[in-house]
Amino acid sequence: MSRRVYIETYGCQMNEVDSARILSLLQGEDFRPADSIADADLVLLNTCSIREKADQKVHSKLGELRAWKRARNGRVVAVGGCLAQQEGSRLSARAPHVDVVFGTHNIARLPGLLREAESGKNRVEVDFTGDTSHWDVLPYLPGGATSAMVTIMQGCDNHCAYCIVPHVRGGEISRRSPEIVSEVGDLADRGVREIVLLGQNVNSYGRKEGEISFPELLRRISRIPGIARLRFITSHPRDLGPETIGLFGEIETLCPHIHLPIQSGSDRILAAMGRGYTRGEYLRKIAALRDARPGIAFSSDFIVGFPGETEEDFEETLAVMEEVRYDSAFSFRFSPRPATRAASMAGAVHAEISGERLSRLQALQEKHTGERLAACVGREMEVLVEGKSARNPAHLCGRTPCHKVVNFSPDPARDGQIRRVLVRSAGAHSLSGAEGA
Ligand code: SAH
Ligand code: SF4
Ligand code: F3S
Repeated sequence: MSRRVYIETYGCQMNEVDSARILSLLQGEDFRPADSIADADLVLLNTCSIREKADQKVHSKLGELRAWKRARNGRVVAVGGCLAQQEGSRLSARAPHVDVVFGTHNIARLPGLLREAESGKNRVEVDFTGDTSHWDVLPYLPGGATSAMVTIMQGCDNHCAYCIVPHVRGGEISRRSPEIVSEVGDLADRGVREIVLLGQNVNSYGRKEGEISFPELLRRISRIPGIARLRFITSHPRDLGPETIGLFGEIETLCPHIHLPIQSGSDRILAAMGRGYTRGEYLRKIAALRDARPGIAFSSDFIVGFPGETEEDFEETLAVMEEVRYDSAFSFRFSPRPATRAASMAGAVHAEISGERLSRLQALQEKHTGERLAACVGREMEVLVEGKSARNPAHLCGRTPCHKVVNFSPDPARDGQIRRVLVRSAGAHSLSGAEGA
């Protein structure tokens, strides 16, 4: 009889796609997905350690799993991902009910490790091997999926002073372009219309391996029949070059949205972060993108309260936001991470001050998000359907090319994955409309 696995994923899209791959791998081992932890024989946490909060969430979940494991013989707990890589055997020492700890380079070893765990051996494997054989496993794709993420590289060669990713994912390794193209082709054959290319720094794709360049990769993928939308994350502003910017004016299916994390608007803080660009250079790239594709939407990540950040530095961040008017943003309070340079930098910002700055930044972003959404009202937009609307099951939910969520009432006489929707109103974070209105 097949066993059931419940995978809980924390952190970013890299982990989401790794979880989908792990599920495919485990299906090959006669596991099927469980609906809940209570129904599962194996619980697998795919963890994140980007900020302390992410780290704490995993530890509290592991606490809950202690009773779950005791309740029935043969239950297995496995922990993978970035926190597993960071903690290694410390994790199983702190939580002895964990049977398997596997690192970011050890995913393909998971089936073997689980078999050993079932025969009573607790296993920790967090070697940085550079193993990418899990890339050969096609991530599990839910039936009817219209959008899919495709890994093009793993790891990162940058060392932004605050960031733990290079420590837990290792150096940058790019995937071979024919494999990427073939995976996208398979996905298109299975009905996927949108592809999101994934990497920590997609603009440096292939440089170390002598592969084709990132813009060339985009061109090749854009020629694959059936792919109506192409996106990529994440783009490091320093490495976003003129050729890629120009493609926004050439490839129609390249969506008019780019996530371009600035982190801070102050040159002093950007230098301390080791980001490798100034605010002026960043803004020139924004202007070039607007020239290449008028109306393009922008989103960003921000860190407030980086060591040494003054009120003036912070106000420069707000000023950049006023200038760019991002459609959306993720913003975080600086969190010191083990083994990063910023963790030992002088000039810690008091939690009360960084909390207050975060609220101001988020209030400004809410205002800009609202304005950008309101500007869509009255326009007809193409929406790629992702599923039923959570609010009204008779309605559908999808995204515009510029990545905004739209809930809409469908025209019963039509179907298809891409629908033309008249936007009738804007909420705080999404749009509403009607098809064929
Ligand atoms: N490779 C991507 C980012 C990956 S991490 C890039 O360079 O854009 C996602 C976001 O988490 C970062 O952009 C940053 O804003 C935030 N982040 C990373 N480390 C952090 C830390 N120590 N404290 C707070 N936020 C952090
Ligand atoms: Fe972290 Fe910087 Fe690499 Fe992004 S580019 S993953 S922020 S080190
Ligand atoms: Fe992603 Fe978190 Fe790892 S953001 S790369 S899962 S540390």
